[in-house]
Amino acid sequence: MQVRVIDHPLIQHKLSFIRDVNTGAKEFRELLEEIAMLMAYEITRNLTLEEIEVRTPVTTCKSKVLAGKKLAVVPILRAGLGMVSGVTKIIPAARVGHIGVYRNPENLQPVEYYCKLPSDIAEREIVVVDPMLATGGSAVAAIDMIKRSGAKNIKLMCLVAAPQGVLVVNDHHPDVEIYTASVDEGLNEHGYIVPGLGDAGDRIFGTK
Ligand code: PRP
Ligand code: URA
Repeated sequence: MQVRVIDHPLIQHKLSFIRDVNTGAKEFRELLEEIAMLMAYEITRNLTLEEIEVRTPVTTCKSKVLAGKKLAVVPILRAGLGMVSGVTKIIPAARVGHIGVYRNPENLQPVEYYCKLPSDIAEREIVVVDPMLATGGSAVAAIDMIKRSGAKNIKLMCLVAAPQGVLVVNDHHPDVEIYTASVDEGLNEHGYIVPGLGDAGDRIFGTK
């Protein structure tokens, strides 16, 4: 199972509150944004830098800035939207694409309904965001769509993953690194992650 669990204490602390059934939509959204920001900090630590010269009030010096094409963050609608602002707060130049995929509740199969990506997606580093990686069907479908548009350099950032979902993504897209705050025990008979946090979209948008 190829997955990187980001076990930073701040992330783990916030994850406990986001799991809590008594956490309301406002606090849930705030925590999700904060966790996404902390995770983005971790997963961007290998971005390439280049040297520039900067004039300070005192002298000039060599200093480093991000090199080359910038990042694109691509939320899987709907719940992925809850992670976008956390990423763009620390990477304001990131472009944002959108992939619409929902899971048919009867057979848990992904249904694709929307795709709008930056035109230069092939040259960008892509971070696909979705709080939940359950069966893996939605993530595989989203990554398929992004690859069809020419993108090659893709990472998947989710809050909570089921082992089944990690294996399915590893199998279909072995080049895609998965980052998560937790690999949970598994799935229940309805395809929900156990212990998980329930339906992420409903908790973010207050639709249940
Ligand atoms: C949730 C979640 C993932 C998907 C994960 O979305 O945000 O996209 O389920 O399940 P999977 O790994 O089994 O495919 P959902 O289908 O509930 O849509 P929503 O975000 O529009 O509520
Ligand atoms: N989608 C969710 O929102 N939660 C789960 O536990 C599984 C799929």
